[in-house]
Amino acid sequence: MQMTALQNGRMSSTSAAVESDNDTAKAQKNYQIVQDVGNFEEKQAKRPDFDHSKPIEVTKSPYPQWKYGEGVPDNGASLAQKHHEIDPYAPDRPMINNYRLLVSGIAPRPIGFISTVNSKGEKNLSPFSYFQVLDHDPPMFIVGFSSRPGRVKDTYRNLKETGECVINTVSENMIEAVNASSIDAPYGVSEWDVSGLHEEPSTTVKPSRVAESVFSIEGKVVDIKEFTDHQQPGMSIAANVLIKATRFWVKEGTADADYSHIDLEKLRPIAQLGGVSYGRVVSTFERPRSKWDVEVPKSETLQKLDASKPGVN
Ligand SMILES: Cc1cc2nc3c(=O)[nH]c(=O)nc-3n(C[C@H](O)[C@H](O)[C@H](O)COP(=O)(O)O)c2cc1C
Repeated sequence: MQMTALQNGRMSSTSAAVESDNDTAKAQKNYQIVQDVGNFEEKQAKRPDFDHSKPIEVTKSPYPQWKYGEGVPDNGASLAQKHHEIDPYAPDRPMINNYRLLVSGIAPRPIGFISTVNSKGEKNLSPFSYFQVLDHDPPMFIVGFSSRPGRVKDTYRNLKETGECVINTVSENMIEAVNASSIDAPYGVSEWDVSGLHEEPSTTVKPSRVAESVFSIEGKVVDIKEFTDHQQPGMSIAANVLIKATRFWVKEGTADADYSHIDLEKLRPIAQLGGVSYGRVVSTFERPRSKWDVEVPKSETLQKLDASKPGVN
């Protein structure tokens, strides 16, 4: 199947270009990722105002008296419900159903707000929630770039071209600006201007940091995986990018003295949920991590497991 210049970076003939334009137009028709939310302003007007002063409440955990082996207490009704099996690649399963299932089911997701530049130095800033920190030693991050009709995402193109970025965190007060920066601006148009957010210089990479973010991570691309086997006609290639941190920046007054812990009250992270929903962290609880040797004497269940472990008797 023919791919476009931006899909695979190498195209020569005019006929190939016409064919790929047709493919792109067809793909565009079937692409419903950006959800039609009806009259959003009307819906939003009926909702309570955002409470900026809401403190984060710390409660007990759901079952503070939980014991080893207890599973989920009082969960009989849920266990009686069976699961429905889905083959994500079934020929009659539309891609959009997998998208909706994954973004509503794998939630909350953090948002990596990624600043890049292309080889000409033109700036780009866009949010990505197929994003996660993978390790701390070395500090590693992953971002997933979805396929779409026509050209690849500018952020992906820039990462491929220059290998550099800054990953910025998103706090509650930033969400309108961040959401707006996901607009499909023409290549080379800077979402810094769309969002009105402010730039701060970076040390180890060319793209700027977001001044409003509590935490920014300068990083360099260490690996890219393109899913060539999965590419559909008219659609750009999907890719995962692995990024290694080269610098951290933490806003003063938001962390402890040795910059080893960011205060949740200051970070106020936004989570992406399904559809066009975002979530706040408004309530937390704690559960200490356990150690086998400390816990065994306190629990009959663990004592039985300990006695039956391989090598005993
Ligand atoms: C909160 C949020 C999270 C998003 N996450 C992703 C993502 O993980 N992967 C992706 O390909 N697009 C994601 N998008 C859509 C991109 O931000 C959008 O396609 C944007 O136009 C890409 O910009 P670029 O072409 O300048 O890189 C997300 C949008 C929003 C608002």
